[in-house]
Amino acid sequence: MDQRTFEQSSAGLDAEAKALECENRALEAALTREDGAPVNKGYGKLILFGEHFVVYKVPALVAAVEAYTDCTVRMTQIPGVTVVDNRPAVPGYKTKKKAEQDEANQLVLKHLKVDTTQPGSGVELTFGGDLCCVSGIGASASSCIALSRALDHTLNMGLTVEQINAAGYEGEKGYHGTPSGIDNTAACYGGVLKFQRTAGDPMFQLKKIRKPISIVYASTGITSSTTEVVSDVRAKKEADPAWWDSLIQRYEALVKQAETVLEEGDTEALGKLVDENHTLCQELTVSCTELDTLVLAARAAGAAGAKMSGTGRGGLMLAITPTSEIQQQVAEALANAGAAQVWMTSLA
Ligand code: MEV
Repeated sequence: MDQRTFEQSSAGLDAEAKALECENRALEAALTREDGAPVNKGYGKLILFGEHFVVYKVPALVAAVEAYTDCTVRMTQIPGVTVVDNRPAVPGYKTKKKAEQDEANQLVLKHLKVDTTQPGSGVELTFGGDLCCVSGIGASASSCIALSRALDHTLNMGLTVEQINAAGYEGEKGYHGTPSGIDNTAACYGGVLKFQRTAGDPMFQLKKIRKPISIVYASTGITSSTTEVVSDVRAKKEADPAWWDSLIQRYEALVKQAETVLEEGDTEALGKLVDENHTLCQELTVSCTELDTLVLAARAAGAAGAKMSGTGRGGLMLAITPTSEIQQQVAEALANAGAAQVWMTSLA
């Protein structure tokens, strides 16, 4: 075997191993509880690079968080869908998203051909888990994936992980018309992923990180509408194609570097790129004063970099923190700067 062929075949094996690990993580998300009932997990996520740009078929980097939404399904005599929502949430989130959540549940049920209109075929959906519902964390996608897994278990559908993800994607359309698929894919598979929307199935790949990367993320407490912000970005893109082209080109160059730096676990370099991504989000007009204030507070407290994450105009920001001491300092600084809630995590 010449060197080139070897490199090609070992790259192929590597990709296979990564795909297998990805699949395993997804299967782990459907493990059973102590009482034998399935835990139907949909993970939360943090977009590290590429919110909004990802809708336009360029790569993005996303990390699932350990916290998840869980769903159980109980068949009921009374036809229709009843929802018991026990998820923790920031004030106002659940009320603001209720109509979209109901629509998303209906879309998942329809996609999986579950008819709830006959006596005895009604469903009671109970959502729980430890993921705090807040804009930016992918709470909607995690509940769509949890629901798809729960229906699969309860009705013995024998769905593949890809089919669960596809059902989650359909549900996401209840929250906004043109989801890229990044949130449901992270919610379904977990891990750190490179994700790209395509005209057909999405492309995604599990990323191996050499050293764990510690992160602080914080909520502004503001619940934003993904539908509104995504359509504002589309309107701006259509109104000024030259502005958009230059912005997306800068983003594509940035995400290429970010992928390498992320794999190497170089937190300082990653921080700088994260800062640049925040600037692009500001230029896109998807950041806001509250997010910018938290981003500046995190940087001043020693973060290697900080950015908004997710839809924006409220929701979440994240900061890259090189040491556990800095992680602690940044978390305190964010709480003092008015963050509604602060979390610490690590990407591995
Ligand atoms: C929302 O978490 C991420 C957006 O890019 C929308 C999407 O990708 O569907 C704003």
